[in-house]
Amino acid sequence: PMNTRMKVLMNQMTLAEKIGQMVQIDRRAATAEIMRDYSIGSVLSGGGSVPHKHAAPEGWVDMVNGFQTGSLSSRLGIPMIYGIDAVHGHNNVYKATIFPHNIGLGATRDKDLVKRIGAATALEARATGIPYVFAPCIAVCRDPRWGRCYESYSEDPKVVQEMTEIISGLQGDIPANSTKGVPYVGGNTKVAACAKHYVGDGGTIDGINMNNTVTNWHGLLSIHMPPYYNSIIKGVSTVMVSYSSLNGVKMHANRQLVTKFLKGNLKFRGFVISDWQGIDKITYPQHANYTYSVLNGIRAGIDMVMVPLNHTEFIDILTSLVNKNFIPISRIDDAVRRILRVKFSMGLFENPIADHSLVDQLGSQAHRDLAREAVRKSLVLLKNGENADSPVLPLPKKASKILVAGSHANNLGFQCGGWTITWQGQGGNNHTAGTTIFNGISTAVHPSTEISYSESPDEDFVKSNNFSYAVVVVGEPPYAESAGDNSNLTIPQQGLDTIKNVCGNVKCVVVLVSGRPLVIQPHLKHIDALVAAWLPGTEGNGVADVLFGDYGFTGKLSRTWFKTVDQLPMNVGDLHYDPLFPFGYGLTTEPVTSS
Ligand code: IFM
Repeated sequence: PMNTRMKVLMNQMTLAEKIGQMVQIDRRAATAEIMRDYSIGSVLSGGGSVPHKHAAPEGWVDMVNGFQTGSLSSRLGIPMIYGIDAVHGHNNVYKATIFPHNIGLGATRDKDLVKRIGAATALEARATGIPYVFAPCIAVCRDPRWGRCYESYSEDPKVVQEMTEIISGLQGDIPANSTKGVPYVGGNTKVAACAKHYVGDGGTIDGINMNNTVTNWHGLLSIHMPPYYNSIIKGVSTVMVSYSSLNGVKMHANRQLVTKFLKGNLKFRGFVISDWQGIDKITYPQHANYTYSVLNGIRAGIDMVMVPLNHTEFIDILTSLVNKNFIPISRIDDAVRRILRVKFSMGLFENPIADHSLVDQLGSQAHRDLAREAVRKSLVLLKNGENADSPVLPLPKKASKILVAGSHANNLGFQCGGWTITWQGQGGNNHTAGTTIFNGISTAVHPSTEISYSESPDEDFVKSNNFSYAVVVVGEPPYAESAGDNSNLTIPQQGLDTIKNVCGNVKCVVVLVSGRPLVIQPHLKHIDALVAAWLPGTEGNGVADVLFGDYGFTGKLSRTWFKTVDQLPMNVGDLHYDPLFPFGYGLTTEPVTSS
């Protein structure tokens, strides 16, 4: 019946209506009238877009419904699909639950946990009327200098494959009798997912974002491709193409890999979406020869195009390319069929308008508890005293006086990282609800324990107080995409000063908040215990849960921890493997039964 409905609809569509379905525009470029007049297929809140002015989820629902009403009033009334970057929870929305970024989830090795996170993220997205998320990122990051390393679950394809279980949480479990490759979304509390960025995004030279990935078929099929196999088996609805090139060919123009391999060999039947202005970047400088780019992007097999600000130019060019027979109508029909297949399969035609019934799901206690569990399981203990006989952790809850110090101890925005409220992240501090690591420590300790907090204490301050011990929380400031590319990977100077001033003078635990391993070897001898906390998100009390022994440390490195950056790239299985801490490393502690 779905196929029949699709055929009937396709037979009624004009070329303009078909091309309209292939267009995704930014919400700032959208109005109900534009949605109606051009039969636009999709709207997005791009990562780079400013936060939507309505803080409350009801405001989001109403905004999305406004665009949808426009679409429904078009000649054929085809609903649009609204998409957003919900990459660690529904991170563009005030008060949402922010889960650890993928690097931390990889350290949990817990696919059931990740599935539950997917389900919670789907509910929070639906709470704001949004049925489509640009997640998960299934990049296999091979070089931590890459600014998107934290969006990757692991350098090891097997771990990333396991973590694709998040798709079953986002979309629901695919029914047993499904045909391979057919997209599946299990109704109004689930969302369409997007496996990204196809393919080889995590393998670029020197970890430079959007750069060239050089590999042979063996490397491609054994390192970067495997997570796509699992995603397709789970019925992933969409795949986003990577900005990067493969052996010099832009992925956005790579017909062999997009059409022949993904749609042909792998039998993917959902839709392929471009990245933001990804087609424009086929030529250099960007947009230099847009007609050529549109031709090559569409011919490569891209179905939906994130235009996203100038839809008329794109529509005019694609229309004339089809009219002049540069692009066959069969290619347009393939794209539209795939887009409609996703919309039909998720019930968008039956239920295009969201109501306010799920708004309580946003930032609910159940989701915060889940995020806290994820934080606990993501922490990796790298050092615990000089040897196994003198552990520093877990810390005693009862002490006379403790110091909590560092730039990342009491800063929710830093703790959440990039892709939180704003694209680059810093805005999270003002608008995100949650607990900082300092808040978590404050509630965890015994009421008689005195806590002193300082962002950057000097040595005199540390020496003149009789602290029982100190927790130093330092790391990287937030960043996203190319802005995070970094060839030094050093802890910023303020953090190093804090480590020096504190750790030289009192027993200290360093909690590193970062999107990747950083240079730590030269400082290790001054540090009594070291914890990698990655980018834990809004539930800082999850860190305190483990520091004070309510739970044990169980996390395992999802990446190799290098000694010096000149070793990079260095990954598990490499010939010259000489890490500071190997892939899979992680000390454990037993939970303390009572105190
Ligand atoms: O989904 C993202 C992608 O990961 C990077 N570029 C922008 C897209 C939409 O915000």
